[in-house]
Amino acid sequence: MLSTTLLDKLNHQINLEVSAAHTYLQMSAWLLSQSLDNTALFFREHAFEEQQHMLRLFDYINETGAVASIEQIDKPAMNYDSLISLLEQACNEEDKLTGHINQLVDTALHEKDYSTFQFLQWYVARQHEEEHLFNSLLHKARIINTLEGRALFRFDEEVRKAAFRHPHQDHHDRHEYHDRHRIPLHREHHQHD
Ligand SMILES: [Fe+2]
Repeated sequence: MLSTTLLDKLNHQINLEVSAAHTYLQMSAWLLSQSLDNTALFFREHAFEEQQHMLRLFDYINETGAVASIEQIDKPAMNYDSLISLLEQACNEEDKLTGHINQLVDTALHEKDYSTFQFLQWYVARQHEEEHLFNSLLHKARIINTLEGRALFRFDEEVRKAAFRHPHQDHHDRHEYHDRHRIPLHREHHQHD
């Protein structure tokens, strides 16, 4: 059975996840208005993920015999100064979610509620992934925002092309290499014989 403190905090987390879902969906509308269609799709899908996070909490609370409670959600911002500003706000949103999940984990541990502690581990792992994902997008957007950064991205693209050539070409090159150096192909599989 959940303590009143934990129940309040879990219900508040429901609110935060829904709020994040609304924010990301609203961000996708602004991104569409800027013709950033792929980024808009990313945020639209992420809004759906936050909705799933909310439902997971909703189900857990109800499974304990308590009643999940949905609070009023503030209207998200509609306009952004730039893509970078939008991404900064998305990173802040994720930071906020992580902070609250960590507080929940602290409370569950303090109260020796090991079931809730275990349940929350999934959120701890998700927040690690999400913070990395959003921070890396912001980092890339900041790099690409400069002339030198665009040149570096162009170079990075060239490395990608070089590293992931057509597989048949790789196969051919490998045979050519082995022919040139007179190494029978099958021998490399028995190097430790
Ligand atoms: Fe979430």
